[in-house]
Amino acid sequence: MIRDTRADLYVLPELCFTGYAFRSKQEAMDLAESVSDSFSLNHIRELASEHKCGIIYGFAELSGEKVYNSCCFVSPDGGHYIYRKLHLYYQEKEWFSPGDKPLGLVEFRGCRIGMMICFDWIFPEVARSLALMGAHLICHPSNLVMRYCQTTMVTRCVENTVFAVTANRIGRETRGEYDFDFTGGSQILSVRGDILYDGSRDKEEIGIADINFRESEDKRINPKNDLWNDRRPEFYRVN
Ligand code: ACM
Repeated sequence: MIRDTRADLYVLPELCFTGYAFRSKQEAMDLAESVSDSFSLNHIRELASEHKCGIIYGFAELSGEKVYNSCCFVSPDGGHYIYRKLHLYYQEKEWFSPGDKPLGLVEFRGCRIGMMICFDWIFPEVARSLALMGAHLICHPSNLVMRYCQTTMVTRCVENTVFAVTANRIGRETRGEYDFDFTGGSQILSVRGDILYDGSRDKEEIGIADINFRESEDKRINPKNDLWNDRRPEFYRVN
């Protein structure tokens, strides 16, 4: 599909080469790839270079004895940046180690991009932290199974004045004792929570939207409210 379209940045779903479910941690390890020797990363690098675009994709990352549910940003010059999912969902705790690196941003063509993976959506701290670091856009590879995420992401955009792309999966996966139905409905959201692309619930698609990412730099809501200046962190007493 990347070959048939033109965009600066493509976002693919979580764990997009292995599938989401594993019979065991051993199976996850057998299918995971280490970044220094990754068939998928090399392939994505070729695509990014050929099409002069950035690509973000989710993959099972092998590092020593650990497997992380990770996603990777790849730039056309072959550079990459990895985020390891901080908040593991349900059975993922049997297969993966939780992310062990602080949140960060990557800059591409002037746009500061933050990444989070699927269930991270339910922790508003993730989107907030990325936005406070200066993210214009949050990219969110997903294999969503709960039905509230897409609507919640509208709030994440509004409360942080950021754009977001959720790239979600469709269909069903049955593996060992596990059965998952994925909700589809990938979306591209504006800083005001407008749905710029509303993906199918049950068909494979690619959705493209033009955004002016600089809009996320203006945190004013009206002449007297500014989302950042009006925060009162000295009264937010819990960590
Ligand atoms: C999920 O975090 N993939 C449900």
